[in-house]
Amino acid sequence: MKKIIVLVILAVFALFTASSAFAGGKCPQPRKTKKAPGGIAGKDNTGKADKANGKKLYDKKAKPMACVMCHGKTGAGDGKLGAALKPKPRNFACAATMKDVSAGQMYYIIKNGSKGTGMAPMKLKDKEIWDVIKYIREDLMH
Ligand code: HEC
Repeated sequence: MKKIIVLVILAVFALFTASSAFAGGKCPQPRKTKKAPGGIAGKDNTGKADKANGKKLYDKKAKPMACVMCHGKTGAGDGKLGAALKPKPRNFACAATMKDVSAGQMYYIIKNGSKGTGMAPMKLKDKEIWDVIKYIREDLMH
């Protein structure tokens, strides 16, 4: 009998840790980031952007830090470093929040950072910024 109780407790514990590991960022998620100034939010140069290069930047190459460290492998805002941040990194996988975030808005924030949050201005060329936006919008957002 005791054994069964121990097993049940273990199973509940395992389920709990597994679900919290996969739950990622909240959805809908509040946004601390300000709106990009007029005009820029409507910009979209992802048409000819290179998504494969965007993935490389996201996962590894972006400076000063790869996006994956905070925004997580699947974009759920659950990267290792993100856990300690307030507000939490954007959850790109959350459609309810991302419906208000245009490609141009992303461009502005990646380039300039978001004051009062852990999102620093990224040292990327404009072309690289559009590459990473294309990767996020096509492969991580849904
Ligand atoms: C050190 C952690 C960290 C890193 C690294 C990081 N971000 Fe962020 N990011 C954040 C935080 C925190 C926010 C702000 C969340 C909020 O507005 O509440 C944010 C916000 C954003 C937003 C703003 C979306 C909006 O709501 O307007 C975009 C886009 C974004 N990040 C893209 C990127 C990309 C692309 C990279 C890599 C090139 C990257 N981030 C790297 C932490 C990070």
